[in-house]
Amino acid sequence: MDKHSSVKSVQETRDMRAALLTWYDTGGRSLPWRIRPEDRRKGRAADPYAVWLSEIMLQQTTTVHAAPYWEKFLERFPAVEDLARADRDEVLAMWAGLGYYARARNLHKCALSVTQDWGGIFPKTEAQLLTLPGIGPYTAATIAAICYGEATNIVDGNVERVISRIFAVQAALPKARAEIRRLAGTLADPVRPGDYGQALMDLGATLCAPQSPKCGLCVWRKNCAAFKAGDPQTYPKKTPKKKQPKRYGAVFVLFSEGHVLLQRRADNGLLGGMMGFPGTEWTSAPLSQGLAFAPEPRNWELCAGEIKHVFTHFNLYLQVYRAEAPCGAIKEVNAAGDWADLSAIKDYALPTVFAKVLRLAQKEAP
Ligand code: ADE
Repeated sequence: MDKHSSVKSVQETRDMRAALLTWYDTGGRSLPWRIRPEDRRKGRAADPYAVWLSEIMLQQTTTVHAAPYWEKFLERFPAVEDLARADRDEVLAMWAGLGYYARARNLHKCALSVTQDWGGIFPKTEAQLLTLPGIGPYTAATIAAICYGEATNIVDGNVERVISRIFAVQAALPKARAEIRRLAGTLADPVRPGDYGQALMDLGATLCAPQSPKCGLCVWRKNCAAFKAGDPQTYPKKTPKKKQPKRYGAVFVLFSEGHVLLQRRADNGLLGGMMGFPGTEWTSAPLSQGLAFAPEPRNWELCAGEIKHVFTHFNLYLQVYRAEAPCGAIKEVNAAGDWADLSAIKDYALPTVFAKVLRLAQKEAP
C-alpha cells in the first residue's frame, strides 16, 4: 500500500475528531439552514425538509448564491406537502438561475414521493433516503447524519480535497474517489456525525482552499501529510481534463409591441421544462445555415457577437437572430410559443443562457 495513504492511529483519530469539532463549535460558519450546537442547546432541531432543500441547492452552487433561493422556497412552500402540491412549472420558474435544472425536476418528484409514499415525513435512514428521486450518496449521508444522527460518511468535493491532503493520496481523481471515501470513513465521527461532516465541509470551503490553503489556521495541519511535504495545493491529483467539446446552434428572438416569443423546452434533455427561445438543435459542427431553420417571419437579422455558455459537458456557442413581428401578432396564437411581456420577463424565469440571448437581442433592437 502507498505509505502516505495509511490510516491514522486510534489516538490520532480521536484527537483529530476532537480538534475539528472544537473548531466548528467556536469558529464554524452560521448558515441559514444550519442548526448549530448552540441552537440545539436552545431546543431547535434540524428540519429534514429544510436540510434536504439546502443540500440539493448547494450541489454545484455556492452558499451565497443558494441562500436567497432557499429562503424563497421555504416561504412559498413551508412544508414538503406544499412543494408536492405546487405546479411543476412554478417550481422550475423559482429555480431559474440556480442551473442544473434536473435538480428542480427531481426536487418536485421527491416532494411528491415523500408526501405520497412516506406520509410527508422524510425517511430516517441513509439507505431509505437513497431510494428517493434526486437523492444520491452524498445527500442521503448528509441528511441522515444532520437530521437523524446516523453515523454516515459525508463526502463532497470539499471533503475529497481535505482528505486527499491529510493522507497525501497519490492516485488521481476520479479513480481515487473510492480510496478517498474509504479514508474519510476512518476519520468520520460516530458521536456527532452531522456536526463533524459540516465541520469538514466548512474546513474545505474556508481554509483548505484549492489554490492557497490557509494551513497556518488549520487545526489538522500537524496531521496533514501534504502540509508536512509542503505541497498541499497539488492535491487532489487530477487526471488531466479532456478539452470540452463545442456545440453550436442558433436561436430566434421575435419581438412585437413590448413582447417576446418564448417556447417551453421539451421535458427530456438539457434545460428540460424551462422557458427558452425557438431555435435549432445544438450540434457538434458549426451551423453553416442557421437561418434555414428559422420560423416565420423571414426578416431575421443576425445580431453581432455570439453567446458562449459553459455547460458541464460542453461549451455552447449560439448565433442570435432577431426580428420584429407585425403589429397585432401578439393577439394571435403562435404555434411556436407564447408571447411574454418584456416588462415582466422575470416572471418567466429564463435560464441564464437564454437571459444572455435576450440581452444580446435587445442590445441590437432599434
Ligand atoms: N456544502 C453543502 N452542504 C453543506 C453543509 N451542510 N455544510 C457546509 N458546507 C456544505
